[in-house]
Amino acid sequence: MSDRRIEDLLARMTWAEKLGQLQITYHPDPARTRALISAGMGSIFWQGDAEATNAMQRHAVENTRLGIPLLVGLDVIHGQRTIFPTPLALAASFEPRHAEQVASVSGREAASGGVNWTFSPMIDVSRDPRWGRIVEGFGEDVLLNSCFGAAMVRGYQGDDLSAADAIAATAKHFVGYGQPEGGRDYNTADMSEYRLRNVYLPPFQAVVEAGAASVMASFNTIDGLPVHANRRLLTGVLREEWGFDGVTVGDADGVMNLIPHGIAANAADALKLAFAAGLNVEMGGNVVADGVPTLSEAELSPVVVDAAVRRVLALKTALGLFERPYVVAEREIVAATPEHRDIARRMAPDTMVLLKNDGDLLPLADRERILVTGPYAESTDHLGAWVQAFATPAGRIVDALRERLPGTDVVVSAGASFLGTDEAALRAAAASQAAEIGFAIVFAGEPSNISGEAASRSDLRLPGEQEALIHAIADTGVPFVVVLESGRPLVVSDWFDRAPAVLQAWHLGTEAPAAIVSALMGETAPSGKLPASFPRSSGQVPTHYSHDNTGRPATTGGSMAPTTWDPALHGPNNVDDKYASKYLDLDLGPLLPFGHGLTYTRFEYSGARLREGDVALNALRDGATFGLEITLTNVGDRAGDEVVQLYTHDVVAHRVQPVRVLRRFTRVHLEAGESRAVSFELGFDDLAFWSESHSVPGFDVEPGAFEVFIGGSSEAPLAARITVGAPQHALSREPIAHRYARSTQASTTGVAS
Ligand code: BGC
Repeated sequence: MSDRRIEDLLARMTWAEKLGQLQITYHPDPARTRALISAGMGSIFWQGDAEATNAMQRHAVENTRLGIPLLVGLDVIHGQRTIFPTPLALAASFEPRHAEQVASVSGREAASGGVNWTFSPMIDVSRDPRWGRIVEGFGEDVLLNSCFGAAMVRGYQGDDLSAADAIAATAKHFVGYGQPEGGRDYNTADMSEYRLRNVYLPPFQAVVEAGAASVMASFNTIDGLPVHANRRLLTGVLREEWGFDGVTVGDADGVMNLIPHGIAANAADALKLAFAAGLNVEMGGNVVADGVPTLSEAELSPVVVDAAVRRVLALKTALGLFERPYVVAEREIVAATPEHRDIARRMAPDTMVLLKNDGDLLPLADRERILVTGPYAESTDHLGAWVQAFATPAGRIVDALRERLPGTDVVVSAGASFLGTDEAALRAAAASQAAEIGFAIVFAGEPSNISGEAASRSDLRLPGEQEALIHAIADTGVPFVVVLESGRPLVVSDWFDRAPAVLQAWHLGTEAPAAIVSALMGETAPSGKLPASFPRSSGQVPTHYSHDNTGRPATTGGSMAPTTWDPALHGPNNVDDKYASKYLDLDLGPLLPFGHGLTYTRFEYSGARLREGDVALNALRDGATFGLEITLTNVGDRAGDEVVQLYTHDVVAHRVQPVRVLRRFTRVHLEAGESRAVSFELGFDDLAFWSESHSVPGFDVEPGAFEVFIGGSSEAPLAARITVGAPQHALSREPIAHRYARSTQASTTGVAS
């Protein structure tokens, strides 16, 4: 449908019909949904299957005056029928192609049932694991959220939104939602413009540039204004600065929440504020309530309404809904297919993070008997947060183990439940069996429903009495492995030193049991890296690798010491100095840093080489680039994957800089003994930061020294120091995802030995 036809339609629409296009609501009663559609409602939530959804589309197309088809929305987050690893787990793979594939397969499954609009990806940078929604996004880093978000948009939308298997993506939650005070969901997330521009906005810009069809407003306030009513962000940044021309949608009841926020007196006020700020679609169904518009033409600018309706109709047009409003019900995918399961299982090892593996306890050696204990041994709760009731369930780990190890006696002793109390007898029984059998695996973790939306926790340790179970097994002195499933980084300090091997398996979805067992057996190798730091204690959060320099950094020296630390001036270290930025009762830094993860082989980095030139460094603004190369060697005796990470640090700038910022990452597969040169190409955008230093705010590369760190975690050692001579300023940057794409193409070329 051409723009002219949208204009024709618009010219024929009544006020109520226009407003009806500007809301989406859910009602469990289909009769009620039909009535709402009769009253002009333009978008609905998915009706549960293709047939029921087709029936609603038919009602809209055949029984309403203008026959406008419906947007059909659903939260397809990490799978529709086949459930894949959670977004946080996907981020641990440091392989955006996995996210693209998840989105593409989930989109195909969802589209087959009539869904045409998903509320995904979530790209809220999440630095506080108390916030349960950390599981729905890609962790604490800006680049990871940008690359994974853009990859998911590509996966959902493909090249052509009107294709039968494509659905519209929604980048959410715009913006700042990942920094709620106290880690409490829905809480205030006030922040400086500096932080907003350098941390929280870039992933949204990347995803908008990747073509996301819609953007969802977030519940939180910024500058004392809830985003649903924040014109500066919803219109100023999103549309005027970035040129976003898709649909902005409110979060569930987000517009009505303006009333308890205390900035709107009633529903009409709230809607006026939201639409005037730039919201196009209200989620909740309050724009036209019971067939009656809440607002009159006198109360809301017809220009604003027409602009919003145009965007909604343009999305329906792009999806091809006017030509093809129905799906073929017989072709609906109603359960995970073997092919889709296979995809889920094959990507899983890249998402699992081997946190420690003393004495190479893993992969498991052949044993006659194994004790398995802990709540996840017999649970089927592996899907993770944000899956729907119709998702294809996972099985039990104990069954997968028995299937894979027919010759081994796999003994189960419950040991603990997820959240239970008074379980001393259970763990005593598990411990005595562990002692008798001589080897144990503890399957511990958080059940899916204590991460995700409205699932903030103040205590990040294993819930229930699971820590006591781990101690009881450790007390026996037998070797044992802990496998953790969780929707967030947990605080594991209390028992981590006592467990010889710990595997972080997140929630891996429908194929979790088979994937976990294969990794334990060594048929595959866990090779993920932490997408969020593991804090030492709940009181230490937020703790994340890319924190700002402080004036009183506590440091023990080593690779994490700031290089601006002058021992002559400040002393050799200040870890013993009371007046350093630290906790009196905690060691420094996280327990496990961002980017950390082992695998079944070992890698060595050597010979960092810098390819630069003063000319290039002084002409970055004009597109010049410089290169860094390092040799990576697999020094173990089996093939494996390493995620090579490159971080930069701006040593002296006119605004305080993060101690490190991830700029590049690439997953490299090496055979045992193989070496390879891994090269990265960096440019202006990799050294720039946003500030208001110029009359027009923008991005600066300031003269002076920069450090580059390359290695296998955010604690990578210094690889090079470079010096920029000339100040360079730009109003905008190259999209972060483009930069990433260029870098990965350039990497892993050439075999060094
Ligand atoms: C969540 C959104 C979600 C929406 C619709 C809200 O409560 O915050 O992320 O898309 O519900 O289900």
